[in-house]
Amino acid sequence: MNAPEKSPLFDLSAWIAGQLAAIEQALSRWVADPVEAPAPAGLGDVMRYAVLDGGKRLRPLLVMAACAAVNGSAQAAMRPACAVELIHAYSLVHDDMPCMDNDVLRRGKPTVHVRFGEAQALLAGDALQALAFGLLTPDDDSVNAATQARLCRLLAQAAGCQGMAGGQAIDLASVGLPLTSAQLHEMHRLKTGALLQASVMMGAACGTASPAALAALRDYGAAIGLAFQVVDDILDVTADAATLGKTAGKDAAQDKPTFVSQMGLQASHDYAQQLLAQALSSLQASGLENTDALQALADMLVNRQH
Ligand code: IPE
Ligand code: IPE
Ligand code: MG
Ligand code: MG
Ligand code: MG
Repeated sequence: MNAPEKSPLFDLSAWIAGQLAAIEQALSRWVADPVEAPAPAGLGDVMRYAVLDGGKRLRPLLVMAACAAVNGSAQAAMRPACAVELIHAYSLVHDDMPCMDNDVLRRGKPTVHVRFGEAQALLAGDALQALAFGLLTPDDDSVNAATQARLCRLLAQAAGCQGMAGGQAIDLASVGLPLTSAQLHEMHRLKTGALLQASVMMGAACGTASPAALAALRDYGAAIGLAFQVVDDILDVTADAATLGKTAGKDAAQDKPTFVSQMGLQASHDYAQQLLAQALSSLQASGLENTDALQALADMLVNRQH
């Protein structure tokens, strides 16, 4: 495998622990702070329930890691890191609603609509999406206007009908249908891959990189984005609810086309490993030096157990 060299000094666990502490603190401050920015009619509690206290935070970690790879400042990456997590959290709230996957368990807790009702779940999702773009456009000169616009464009494209929302529409329209391999790839690329790829590109927008390095990061993001959903499909079959913090076995029960239903468990596993190798060789091709965290996150994301 043409993987970049690993630095023997890089400690992923320590890096993640440091990043997560800062990310959790920022999210808690920015999401409907009950003292600084209380939201009306209990909506702030719903938003905080949806975002705080759970989740692997893979997307914010990817933003921070990509920012490090292009020598950007971690402080500059914190707004995009949180913004992408807010879009992700909103997508989960809506994904779980009865009109979509009708799930009752998420991040080890009752889903938002079970706990607060469908209307509040819908509105919390709406508000989290708006908050994400608010975070990217601070009302001071801490982020220049061109960077703000670029970050908004990347996130909007990944969240909208050419990204997550479009992929979710395909997902719902595909129940019970035997998709072709190309259709399945397209669905996964949009519903999940786009936001993971955007996480990488938003991190990269916080520093300086050549067009060739950016193209390589885009390839890396595409490979891990697809691999992430292949693994999600696998875990839905192989893991249990206690490990996942969400209901297991839902895809087969709802007759959703997945990589597992299409190619079986072993071939799906092999495919995820192949995508990991592709991601690592894209990093190699990037010519960037500081890719330890991006390498380690790709490996973690593909070989995760939940
Ligand atoms: C689950 O995403 C939903 C998909 C996009 C497949 P994650 O596995 O990243 O969920 P959390 O954020 O850790 O809860
Ligand atoms: C959801 O995919 C992707 C999103 C955009 C939220 P899934 O429906 O497979 O996610 P889980 O398995 O419920 O987390
Ligand atoms: Mg779904
Ligand atoms: Mg679901
Ligand atoms: Mg799933």
